[in-house]
Amino acid sequence: MRKLAVLMLVLSLLGCRVIGEDEPPPVPTALPTEVGTLAEARAQRLGRGVNLGNALEAPAEGEWGMVIEAPFFELISDAGFDTVRVPIRWSAHAETQPPYTVEPGFFERVDWVIDQSLAQDLNVVINMHHYDEIFVSPDEHAGRFVAIWEQIARRYRDRPDRVYFEPLNEPHDMLDAGKWNALLSRTVTALRQIDQAHTLIVGGGGWNSIAGLKTLAIPEGEMNVIATFHYYEPYLFTHQGAEWGGPEVGTLGLTWPGPPQEKVEPVPDAKKVEWVRTWFLRYNQNRGADNPASPEQIARAFDEALSWSHQRGIPLWLGEFGAYSTADMDSRARWTATVREVAEARGIPWAYWEFGAGFGVYDRTLGAWRVPLLDALMPAE
Ligand code: BGC
Repeated sequence: MRKLAVLMLVLSLLGCRVIGEDEPPPVPTALPTEVGTLAEARAQRLGRGVNLGNALEAPAEGEWGMVIEAPFFELISDAGFDTVRVPIRWSAHAETQPPYTVEPGFFERVDWVIDQSLAQDLNVVINMHHYDEIFVSPDEHAGRFVAIWEQIARRYRDRPDRVYFEPLNEPHDMLDAGKWNALLSRTVTALRQIDQAHTLIVGGGGWNSIAGLKTLAIPEGEMNVIATFHYYEPYLFTHQGAEWGGPEVGTLGLTWPGPPQEKVEPVPDAKKVEWVRTWFLRYNQNRGADNPASPEQIARAFDEALSWSHQRGIPLWLGEFGAYSTADMDSRARWTATVREVAEARGIPWAYWEFGAGFGVYDRTLGAWRVPLLDALMPAE
């Protein structure tokens, strides 16, 4: 193919006609390539990032113990991060009837977060997080969802392109892949009538899993887009004892990588679940790449994401990954460093989950970075 293209180019440079008189001129390829390159450049610029989690996506900021403070942005920037992702529960701050107006005071708060980020040369990803009602009744909430995004786009369309829009965190439950694709298409159409400049970041159904990428339909003609996925595998390790994780994740003491020095006995509730039982058998016994808690498993998953990206020509962003504070710090640091390395080896930019709460790379009580985690994310070059 490439030889043919070169031959055609040479012939045309020599002034030879390479198409028949009546044939339409070739479709210019420059535009899509350039736009594709734009998305790729915007993805690469995201570099290394961190989520400002547990603040603006709580029902009200502060309710989950985390309030975003001005010094955080300088700290984050000075540590070498390029990007902050800001999870936001817009649905708790907009009217429930048309025109679904977003509270002015809440918008001002988000303005401030954007100002602070840009002042520190950080890219800032504005997302829609924990719109819980839409996962229960997607049809009922679709109009409100689009209306909120129209307001966000209108408010931020003149901001620098270092502001990114991520329409929805982790679609799941009743908002299945089909409904999500339809809602995304409707949202992108509405949003692009207002703002074409800002890059969109979209993930697939099924909680932004890698498998979900394969069900994701990027709206026709939309080129200024990055695909995102989240990575928390093995979940039984990263979410051990997490209060919101369900009884099957209640077993503590899982180290990474496996197998552990001493077998870990799953708690009774975990044993009731078939896949969890099987997982523990493999975790406790298998060596090397066959262990479900091995670096090879991570590499395999990321290869799958990358091959989707290459096939579709859409750049990737790992928007969340992290291991909860209930795991031992050495294991967390090893896992975190490994995921980062695997992502970077494949040219995938990332954002750690998260800055200063339960997964926190920063200890707000001590006012200090958690050095093993920070080193895992920002190794000395
Ligand atoms: C959720 C958080 C959760 C994290 C890890 C995020 O997408 O919004 O609430 O802590 O994933 O489970």
